[in-house]
Formats: sequence, structure tokens, C-alpha cells
Amino acid sequence: MLDTDASDRHPFLQGLSKHRGAPPTVIVIFGASGDLTSRKLIPALYNLGLDNLLPRDFHLIGYGRKPIPDEDFRNDSEAALKEFSRRPLSDELWKHLRPNISYHAGGYDDLKAFESLREKLLAIEKEVGRDVQFLFYISTPPSVFKPILENLGASGLAKHGEESDLASKVIIEKPFGRDLATAQELNTIITNEFDEKQVYRIDHYLGKETVQDLMVLRFANSIFEPLWNRNYVECVQITVAENLGVGTRGGYYDQSGATRDMLQNHTMQLLALTAMEPPVSLSAEDIRDEKVKLLKAIQPMKTGPDGDVVRAQYGEGLIDGERVPAYMQEKDIPATSCTETFAALRMSIDNWRWQGVPFYLRSGKRLARRVSEIAIQFKQASGSLFSDPARFDLASNTLVIQIQPDEGVTLLMNSKIPGLETRTQPVKMHFRYATTFGSNTPEAYERLILDAMVGDSTLFIRGDETETSWKLYTPILDHWAECGRKGLDSYTSGSWGPLAADRLLWEGKHEWRRAGP
Ligand code: NDP
Ligand code: BG6
Repeated sequence: MLDTDASDRHPFLQGLSKHRGAPPTVIVIFGASGDLTSRKLIPALYNLGLDNLLPRDFHLIGYGRKPIPDEDFRNDSEAALKEFSRRPLSDELWKHLRPNISYHAGGYDDLKAFESLREKLLAIEKEVGRDVQFLFYISTPPSVFKPILENLGASGLAKHGEESDLASKVIIEKPFGRDLATAQELNTIITNEFDEKQVYRIDHYLGKETVQDLMVLRFANSIFEPLWNRNYVECVQITVAENLGVGTRGGYYDQSGATRDMLQNHTMQLLALTAMEPPVSLSAEDIRDEKVKLLKAIQPMKTGPDGDVVRAQYGEGLIDGERVPAYMQEKDIPATSCTETFAALRMSIDNWRWQGVPFYLRSGKRLARRVSEIAIQFKQASGSLFSDPARFDLASNTLVIQIQPDEGVTLLMNSKIPGLETRTQPVKMHFRYATTFGSNTPEAYERLILDAMVGDSTLFIRGDETETSWKLYTPILDHWAECGRKGLDSYTSGSWGPLAADRLLWEGKHEWRRAGP
């Protein structure tokens, strides 16, 4: 049943035209029975509806291999909303959204199923009575990105709407490829079937408020930018740590590992925004040009025992006081697995701004706590006024941008301890988003899906960006694949990773921060 009667429409769906002008849209989610769809995508769409940001004519079609009756998919979506939406279910809105949700079963490599999907989409467009934008969201494991893109081309869906200026769009989840060659292959298919402006390679870290705030922090505050270079910065540490294990995603994760799952994409985006030059404007192309330039300036990393990279797998341990199993004991992990659940890297950026400043990156599962942060550690103040360590406890000034949780910015400084003697102690100055702005901020996927709907690609990855990043990681991944388990460290669940990760910093006389506020 299609909700096309304007008189019966809920005010929540009067929508976007007032805000950012998204046209009538059908979103098709490939992999709609999966984890991401229920935990993030359905709740994101629903919350856009709550904020009056969905277009008036909005439809959602789930796509997957096993047949699911429409009614069951609606029930599953409702259950997902109850469990995962950041705001409670409004019966009023849901009553209007629910009938416009349906399911289409078919293989990802089955052209006939794509052709019948096209018929369904055209029928919706006919009922709506005007041009409708088709937005395809590829939320499957990366192994089927390729047939989906090819079939969108072969079925004519990729070309739909070109003449009316409402060309189809496609959002592609990460990891985009397994290495440089597969990323190039995907980009070639994309170039054959789509125009680059139809394509939205998603990295949900770019939708996080704190990540978007990085450019504001750097370029809208005159106190930071003059210090943001090799003259003042001692090193930069980027940590993306999770205390969760692989959970039910062992099948996917064992094919990926920490490097493909987190470092090549999320962590590199944090690095690029932290280290790039100021773009000439806030346009998508200008920002992406600067990110690519930065990525190109990163030097190849050395592998081997004294190299720049460390990988490890979690063993059993304690998380929040509960015993958790080792990675090798998790569901769907093969006995021969040599997949890393932790990786740490030392990078150097060969450009004017960053020459000689080490960038340390680490990411892993089952670490001590969930925390993502960027720490800019400044050089020690010069002079010997406070050089007696018995009296003066001094820390390096460090600016910590806490991406999550407890989003905020902390500046570590040194202060005199009140009293008649002159003694010092490091202190922290905090800015917390929740305190200043309240805590109910939109989820990253809300922002990004809305941006794709209205055609703003600023927070998405360009094809050359992902290839430049893969160029750095592919030799490392190839080397690890050759070594198998040889050289694969292990760490106790609930720790901060293997000792070998500390070694990466010794040469520069640095040590990992205890990440967190
Ligand atoms: P799932 O493993 O839950 O898979 C999604 C759906 O894809 C499944 O329900 C299944 O649908 C289909 N599928 C699963 N395995 C295969 C296979 N081997 N071949 C073909 N189809 C398969 O994935 P997620 O939902 O966790 O993730 C989807 C994408 O989103 C991935 O690319 C992931 O990297 C990315 N992502 C996930 C996040 C998360 O937290 N889950 C976060 C950020 C990104 P059916 O059987 O019905 O066809
Ligand atoms: C996804 C990874 O891209 O990001 C997951 O596939 C990881 O393994 C998740 O758990 C982390 O996202 P967030 O937003 O919770 O930091």
C-alpha cells in the first residue's frame, strides 16, 4: 500500500522541502536483514522522520536473499526501533511510515531480481505521480558490493532519473575493497555505471559531531592553527578503542580484521582531518582534495620486527569484571585464523607542516575501554625554570579531542599547586558537548543519509581518497598474509593491547596516553 494521499499525511512527513529540499525518495537497502540495518539505518531514518526531515513521499524497500514477508519486515523494523532508536517510538509517526516499508527478496548477483525491483520502484514512482529519486544503500558484506553495483548498472537502475535531474544515488558501506586492486576494481565498475556525483562511499566516523567539529576547532580558532605544525607539535596519537569483541560478526570480521575494519578507513579519516592543510572553501571537492594531498604525503610504513606496524589478537580476559573468551574461541572464527583484532602504526608525513612529527595510530577490539580520541602532544616548554623533578611535576601540553564517548575537548596544562611553596601539577581544562549543547545529538547515520538524500557529498569518501589509503595499507596486509600467524602478537582482553605496540613509541621517547578524559 502506498501512502500518497496528501490530506492523510502526518505533519512529520511534510518534510524536507522546508529544510534542505530532499525530493521524493525511495531508499532500497541491500542487506536489510543485517546488523547495521536494524541497529543504525532504520533508527536513523525514523529519527529523520521525527525531525521532520524525511521527504513527503518516502518509501523504504529492504532487499535480501531470503524471502521475508512485508509484514514481518515491518515488525522487525518496529522491534529494531524499540531497541535501538535514540528517541522513543511515536505511534503517530510510525503509523504513517510503516505502510511505506516493504521487502524484496533476491540474490545480489541475480539480474532478474534487480529487474523486478526496478518494476516495483517504477510502480511507486507512478503512484507518487512525479519524479522520484532512487537511493540504494549497500549494507552487505563487501564480498557482494561488486555484483550489486554491476546489477544496478545492468538493470538500468543506475541510470534512472538522469534526464530529470533526479539521478539514482548509491551509498556504499565500508570497507571499500580488500586492498588496492579490489578498490580499483570497484571504482572501475562505478565509473562504468555511474557518475562520481551519484556515489557516496560512506564512513560513518565523518558523520560524528566531534569529527565534523575538527575543522571548526582547527580553522575557526586562531589560537590553535599557529601551533599546529612541526615547530610546536611533538607527536600525534590517534586511538580508536573498543571494549566489545566481535560478537555475532565473526564471519565478516575474520575476513577483515582491525586494519580493514577500522584503520584503513575510520582512523585514516581522523588523521586526514587532523593533519590536512586548510581547504580553500568548505566545498566537498576542496576538502577532499586536501585530504588526498595529505594521504599522499604519508610515507610507506616498514614491516618486520623493527618496523612501523604491530598486529595482535585478543586472548581471554576480563571486561567490566566479566570473563570473556579469546578471539579464537569466538563464534565463526576458523581454527587457522590469523586475523588481527588490534593494530598499531607509526606514520610519518613528508610535508612542510609535519616533517619529523610521528603520528601514532591504534585501534582494537576488547581493549580496556571504549574510547576514540585524537591527542596532539606539544613540545615541552623550553628553559630550566621548572626543571627539578622533585618539585615540579610537569606534563607535555596536550590537546585531546575526544570523539566518543563523552564527546569534548580537553587541554592538559601545568599549574602551580596553591600553597606557600612553588610546586606544580598537570591539570585539565574540559569542554564537554553534553554540558554545553545537551546530549541528544543526531547519530552519524542520520546526518549522512540526509546528506546523501539532498546530494551533499562533503562527508563521503572520494574514489581516489580510498585508493590512496589502500596504497599505504596493501603492502602491510600482503606481508601479514604471507607471514600467517608468525609475528602475530596476543594481548589480554581488557588491556591496552600488546607490549609490542609500546615499542613503536620508544624510539621517539614517547608513550601511549592513557586514553580517556
Ligand atoms: P551482516 O553480516 O549483518 O550482513 C548484512 C546482510 O548481508 C545479511 O543480513 C545477509 O542478508 C547478507 N549477507 C551476509 N553474509 C553474506 C554473504 N557472505 N554473502 C552475501 N550476502 C551476505 O553485516 P552488517 O549489517 O554488520 O554490515 C553491513 C555492512 O556495513 C558491512 O560492509 C560492514 O562493514 C558495514 N558496517 C557495519 C557496521 C556494524 O556495526 N554492523 C558499522 C559500520 C559499517 P541476506 O542473507 O538476507 O541476503
Ligand atoms: C564499524 C566496524 O565500521 O565501526 C565495527 O565495522 C565497529 O567493527 C564500529 O564496531 C565502531 O563504530 P562506533 O561508531 O561504535 O565507534
